[in-house]
Amino acid sequence: MKREAITVRDLSYTYSDGTRALEDVNMAVYEGERVAIVGPNGAGKTTFLLHLNGILRGSDGEVEVFGKCVDKAKREDIIREVGIVFQDPDDQLFMPTLFDDLAFGPMNLGLKEEEVRERVKKALLALRLSGYENRCPHHLSYGEKKKAALAAVMSMEPEVLVLDEPTANLDPRSRAELVGIVKDLNERDGITIVIATHDVNAVPELADRVYVLNKKIIAEGTSQKIFSDFELLKENNLEVPEVFKLFEVLRCFGYNCEELPLSIDEAIEHLTRTVEVNGGHIHLHIHEHTHEEVNKLRSKYGHH
Ligand SMILES: Nc1ncnc2c1ncn2[C@@H]1O[C@H](COP(=O)(O)OP(=O)(O)OP(=O)(O)O)[C@@H](O)[C@H]1O
Ligand SMILES: [Mg+2]
Repeated sequence: MKREAITVRDLSYTYSDGTRALEDVNMAVYEGERVAIVGPNGAGKTTFLLHLNGILRGSDGEVEVFGKCVDKAKREDIIREVGIVFQDPDDQLFMPTLFDDLAFGPMNLGLKEEEVRERVKKALLALRLSGYENRCPHHLSYGEKKKAALAAVMSMEPEVLVLDEPTANLDPRSRAELVGIVKDLNERDGITIVIATHDVNAVPELADRVYVLNKKIIAEGTSQKIFSDFELLKENNLEVPEVFKLFEVLRCFGYNCEELPLSIDEAIEHLTRTVEVNGGHIHLHIHEHTHEEVNKLRSKYGHH
């Protein structure tokens, strides 16, 4: 059994103006795992993530990082272990140059200048931002800032990486790059990943397990389990991945599919298997209920 990287017990949080943002949240994230947190706007995702390295402290409940209570441990120890990439990159970048922003954390850890330079170089390279050292972070484009914010956290070399909406407002190439980087960090370096996101198309690729948060934990399970529960999704303003919808359409045309693919990779796997067992073909046809079933799907997803 792997050890728990993050353990959250009965965490509740109320902002000073009386807004109740979290209620009795329980969560366990195992070492090396990738967990996604999904939920509507205002569900408390950001509030929750800010508890994971002690930026916010719950009025009730406990947060532990590798068994150490965040409230009691030395702040420096927690920051070394849990790196948070904020939803808004402007909250992360505040120095005159990108180099300074990336060097800030490692310098505060008391690392030697040479090692700080090495870490900055490595983080810039990983995010394909080499050559941006002397740029002013505030003049970067939004997409560049998102990547720079992740680079600033990576230069701390955390064991747990917490990302708040990492793919929001990225162009398709930057988004694919970011998904690849996060997967690499997990697979190659064993970094534990916690992501809050509205990008449902990225969830199956980026997460082994999903929590639906809406002030409380509403549900937990694999992407397959969560995305198959349409009522749960509807109640929490959540979408399903486009690939999933497409295969629901194919099913109306007679495609045989019990578990619907959630990503391009899963779709390729499924199609290959189906072609193989059907002697090199995929059989689709229009049967007497096809029209009716397609119309039901249209209204289910609000396409009229
Ligand atoms: N500093 C604050 N003071 C008072 N209320 C706040 C503060 N920050 C957030 N809230 C409220 O707490 C609730 C949870 O907000 P939070 O930002 O955690 O949601 P979220 O799930 O991250 O939303 P989004 O998907 O829009 O990023 C919301 O009702 C929000 O208005
Ligand atoms: Mg948020």
